[in-house]
Amino acid sequence: MTITDELQELYEQGLAAFKDATDPASLEAARVAWLGKKSALTSTLRGLGQLAADMRATVGQHANEVRGQLEEAYQQRKAALADAALAAKIQSGRLDVSLPGRSRPIGTQHLINAIADEVSEIFFGLGYRLAQGPEVEDDFHNFTALNHSPMHPARSASDTFYVRDLSEEAATFDGPEPSEVLMRTHTSPVQIRTMQASKPPIYIISPGKVYRRDIADPTHLPQFTQMEGLAVDEHLTFADLKGTLDYVVKKIFGEERSTRFRPHFFPFTEPSAEVDVSCEICHGAGCRFCKGTGWIEILGCGMVDPNVLVNVGIDPERYQGFAFGMGVERIAALRYDLPDIRLLIEGDMRFLRQF
Ligand code: PHE
Repeated sequence: MTITDELQELYEQGLAAFKDATDPASLEAARVAWLGKKSALTSTLRGLGQLAADMRATVGQHANEVRGQLEEAYQQRKAALADAALAAKIQSGRLDVSLPGRSRPIGTQHLINAIADEVSEIFFGLGYRLAQGPEVEDDFHNFTALNHSPMHPARSASDTFYVRDLSEEAATFDGPEPSEVLMRTHTSPVQIRTMQASKPPIYIISPGKVYRRDIADPTHLPQFTQMEGLAVDEHLTFADLKGTLDYVVKKIFGEERSTRFRPHFFPFTEPSAEVDVSCEICHGAGCRFCKGTGWIEILGCGMVDPNVLVNVGIDPERYQGFAFGMGVERIAALRYDLPDIRLLIEGDMRFLRQF
């Protein structure tokens, strides 16, 4: 084998060795074997001196070329392995920027509060102010002052939640008897507290929770939300009550709806009425939604009974009042066609997210 063949063979083997190196360690081993001080190529270069002078130049040049090409093959492989290592590292620590981020849901106002606020705002626009009262009430404010007779059925323990304070202070507390402490059954006691605390003219709206011993079903809840309204002023008539409620009902349900006042009875108003809004489906003609009547009941109202004004020290000869109460859950159910008002208190996000 001539020295030229030998160099060619070294070149091919060296190239193959660099190509086969798949990691930095095997590449380094190949470099030592094919380009190192003890490599066959190095000894060939060292042996050049023994060659005849005329051959020395050509063989020397050829050997240097081989060395240069192997060096280049080595550098290329080294770079390729480094690229591959970097790519692998990037891949292993890869961030998928298209993955959805962790969401932090932001709470919103519950539908019940949203409606209570919306209706309050309508009344604020009419000059009413907000008034609130305690949810744990006494018999006087919830019933007696509101002209309920002592035997009124709403007072029965099957209708009303009574509260017994078992704390030690209660034993020495100089207040109502335990049997007179109850969860308010309507927001009307706020009327009494407001009239006791302030002089007419009074224009208040009072949203709040009320409690009744009802079993929860699609149209009843043992705890629900009412909005009470009270106006006490000189020269107030039933026409003021009608005008006010007709305006508010149209604001809540839409200008195209109409209202109807039906005679009713409440112990604390005289005369009293229930107010219906025309059915949104049939507009009064009668359909399944309104059970064929064309109307849907939405609130109770009336002129404040003179007895109530006397109970709170307001002169019924000088002042008249009107009052009304409506159920917020009922407004929500009618406005959003809810099949079951229990949806409003169950906290199911699939339902709540719709509002
Ligand atoms: N308090 C009554 C109820 O709970 C509603 C009402 C309020 C009626 C004010 C007339 C006047 O049913």
